[in-house]
Amino acid sequence: MSDIAQHIAVSHKVQFEDLDWEKARRIGLTQHEIESLTYFADIESQTVYYFLEVAKLQVSRDPELLTFLTMWNYEEYFHSHALTRLLTECGVPVESATARSTKIRAGARLKARLEDIVQTLIAKVMPRTFVALWMFWGSLQECLTTQAYEELAHQTSNPVLAELCRRIAKQERRHFAYYYGQAKNRLEGQSWAQRFTRWIAKKFYAPVGGGVKTDAEGARLVAQLFPGDRIFEVMSYIEKRMAARATSVPLRLPEAA
Ligand SMILES: [Fe+2]
Ligand SMILES: [Fe+2]
Repeated sequence: MSDIAQHIAVSHKVQFEDLDWEKARRIGLTQHEIESLTYFADIESQTVYYFLEVAKLQVSRDPELLTFLTMWNYEEYFHSHALTRLLTECGVPVESATARSTKIRAGARLKARLEDIVQTLIAKVMPRTFVALWMFWGSLQECLTTQAYEELAHQTSNPVLAELCRRIAKQERRHFAYYYGQAKNRLEGQSWAQRFTRWIAKKFYAPVGGGVKTDAEGARLVAQLFPGDRIFEVMSYIEKRMAARATSVPLRLPEAA
């Protein structure tokens, strides 16, 4: 079965209606968990805008890519929705996923707008390299996202949060696998695309959410989720997964302010 056929076969909205909300409320969330979940819900809710940015590019008019993007966007939407539900159940005052998403986008930082312009330009001038870079970037972010949810599931003493994180992480891992496979295929034997991708990743790598969150906010979340040396273990895991010769790149997170 092809990669995309596998996605079509298993793509679904993350299950959360069956979770034990009563137990979730009883155990509650720590301040750190509230901050992490709010950050995740914000970022997940922005997927649709990223989807709109890439979908308008000519390079996206590829039936397989569009199919993947559609399922990916649908799944990410429900990650935000489910996290918002958990926060609400635990008594954290939050707006609906849609209202938050619109508000956050309105405040999208200049960086997000600049990224959109640069992205459109690269896609026009070197479409094949752009798609390779895009897939590589996507795999990097999905890998970090998977690790973040798994970490949260591992750390929390709230079993309902742990279960939701595990369910979301399972989908994130599948997203990673698709982007990663695409990046590998598209970079193989393409020395210019490899050099360019490596340069961009080295120069501009920042945890997911860079367009709508400041580097300091991203770094703070990462430091909170992966305390002490954990972050180095996680980054070296990501580097190892990316260590196919074509994409090997040393990653450095921005400093926390
Ligand atoms: Fe997600
Ligand atoms: Fe994802």
